[in-house]
Amino acid sequence: MPILLHPDPRLKKLCAPVDDLSDSLRVLADDMLETMYDAPGVGLAAPQVGQLVRLFVLDCIKEEGEEARPMVMFNPEIVAASEEMNVYEEGCLSIPEHYAEVKRPKVVDVRWLDRDGREQTDTFDGLWATCFQHELDHLNGKLFIDHIGAMKRQMITRKMQKLKREQARA
Ligand code: NI
Repeated sequence: MPILLHPDPRLKKLCAPVDDLSDSLRVLADDMLETMYDAPGVGLAAPQVGQLVRLFVLDCIKEEGEEARPMVMFNPEIVAASEEMNVYEEGCLSIPEHYAEVKRPKVVDVRWLDRDGREQTDTFDGLWATCFQHELDHLNGKLFIDHIGAMKRQMITRKMQKLKREQARA
């Protein structure tokens, strides 16, 4: 699936909750996982492929040889967040080749509906916690650059506008 690039109005929208987990949404989730692994990335949210629903996919296993852990999350929520914070250099498939340090809670208790519509809960720490929060932001129309200083955000946005103009001409 093509991944939308920032700036795009669809990346700024509040996504709608899923109340009926249809087969077409499961197919969407499977296609998103394939798109994420292909990119490659560690997470992909539905608005990044133009679908404004509360769904993202994740797999933060990066170690060579470690088994993949593909996760499909509908209606994801944070139940509790640690006071302790963590800083990660984040990137995003919608903002390729730009990175910035973002501070977020280090540990989050989370809840979601899995691919079969069953409620799941877990506690995520480190990279998994950061990824979950980054993807959840996407469902609320927020990007990682919304967490950084205005100067750097504007610089990245200008470079992305230029990249998109060049791609449109090619
Ligand atoms: Ni992203």
